[in-house]
Amino acid sequence: MATTFAPDIQTLSIVPDAISLARYPDETLLLGSARAYRDNGLKYFQICERTAGIVQTRAMWKRAYIITEPSAIADVLVNYPKCFVKPFILQRLKVLFGDGLLTSDGEVWTHRRRAVQPAFASDRMAAFLNVVAENTRQTVSLWRDGEVRDVYPDLVNLCMKNITQTMFGVYDEELGSIVRALAATCHGLVGQIFNPFRQFPLHFPRRLMRKVEKDLNDLRQYLNRLIEQRKSEPPRDDFLGIMLAGEGRHPCMNREAIINESVTLLLAGHETTASALVWSLYLLARHPWLSDGLAADLYMRLNGEPPSHPDLESLESLRATLDEVLRLYPATHRIGRTVKTPVRIGGHMLREGFDVVMPQWAVHRSPRWYRDPEAFVPSRWTPAFRKSLPRFAYFPFSGGLRTCVGGQLAYSECAAILGFLVQRFRFSMCDSTPLVPREGLTLLPDARGLPVRIEKRTAAAASASPAVEMAAQPGLRRIYPSAGGSSRPGAAGCPFAASGFLGGIKSLLH
Ligand code: HEM
Repeated sequence: MATTFAPDIQTLSIVPDAISLARYPDETLLLGSARAYRDNGLKYFQICERTAGIVQTRAMWKRAYIITEPSAIADVLVNYPKCFVKPFILQRLKVLFGDGLLTSDGEVWTHRRRAVQPAFASDRMAAFLNVVAENTRQTVSLWRDGEVRDVYPDLVNLCMKNITQTMFGVYDEELGSIVRALAATCHGLVGQIFNPFRQFPLHFPRRLMRKVEKDLNDLRQYLNRLIEQRKSEPPRDDFLGIMLAGEGRHPCMNREAIINESVTLLLAGHETTASALVWSLYLLARHPWLSDGLAADLYMRLNGEPPSHPDLESLESLRATLDEVLRLYPATHRIGRTVKTPVRIGGHMLREGFDVVMPQWAVHRSPRWYRDPEAFVPSRWTPAFRKSLPRFAYFPFSGGLRTCVGGQLAYSECAAILGFLVQRFRFSMCDSTPLVPREGLTLLPDARGLPVRIEKRTAAAASASPAVEMAAQPGLRRIYPSAGGSSRPGAAGCPFAASGFLGGIKSLLH
């Protein structure tokens, strides 16, 4: 579908069959598009998407291409990944992650990825989801019927507990408070890094750096103690065990590397899933009839229990809901690279040294791929729709070599937590003011967090079919078959049965 947005685009080049290439519409001589980006980065990406498949722009001195055409994104991530490196902006996060997976490139990255990957093998998911279920039960045991509560900190702590227990075999309050402090510092760093007006001087403010050093030092000391303790115990095969077994086997697998990967996983492994969950609850709180439909469908199948690993395979309504959440609020809402070697993408030569930004936020909200793109409509995710979507019109976990290493784990974790919470509780907003997303390392809620009213669902309420809403929106019956009152669990003919939940996760990892 053609877009209606047609500002005075200055088209840079017209190449037959090439993807459109244009400059950002409102650049100024001095600042380029820096002010527009600084004022509202998310809107900025959407303007780029409506302007051209590739927008060439400049934020102060930094030159960039904003790429939103799916086939060009595929070229960058899958077809010519070796022509790109992680962007300079992310390199600055090395003060935190060292040369961990997120920030490294080349040979170091290849060795690290090989070393870390086994910790995320599919056969570990069942055990992981048991940990998730237990921690989720503990978390909600603090929630009182009828209370208004900011659930964001609870979700952050829950996800942190899940990842530390699974990857490191421990969780205690000391580790929790160290990681929380470091995450807050990380947001400060990201704020500096992504503000185009704070690029000079290149070093961070001294106060911020002192905080980084302190928090990082606390975490390193904790991890060093943990490593020493683990070395005195029989080997285990969690992430830390796998890393320790590989220590010294390759020049780039030393103690420093283990610490860097641990910091990377501790931060990337809980901030992202907490973001996905907070936006899930936000959207369900704003769409209570959808939440009721989902609860009824899940209750029919799970009877109020958390979904186990095998359960996930058949929970199509849950998958559709989560896909729709990650479409509207992708936890990682933009991916960056820098052109290392000039390369032709979409019919245009990308120049060395330019940054490339591929914003999921804007691609996922494009009217070219999604009807009523700003609306929360889980029922759009039918198999036919999935099939019709071009590759990289939906890419919450990126794709190609650098696809999210924790994607399967993250997706299963979010589904398991959401599947449990929605059966047990009904969330509603306390006021109608929309929550404004903030651009941090992940897509964060604004300073209010997510204050919601929490009501416990009784078994009867959870399994009741919300007939009125279903009649008003017949399309919902496709997505929440049990809530329509007709289907039995796992009914044949379910529109998602063909791909299954876990098959679906794999397809998301492109
Ligand atoms: C909803 C949750 C998550 C989302 C949406 C997400 C998204 C992403 C994306 C888009 C990338 C690729 C960035 C790029 O191409 O530059 C990525 C990379 C990565 N993610 Fe995730 N992630 C999630 C959860 C997790 C979890 C739970 C972990 C670890 C336990 C994790 C660890 C990583 C790591 C280490 C990388 C770097 C991989 C590499 O470059 O080899 N992520 N993630």
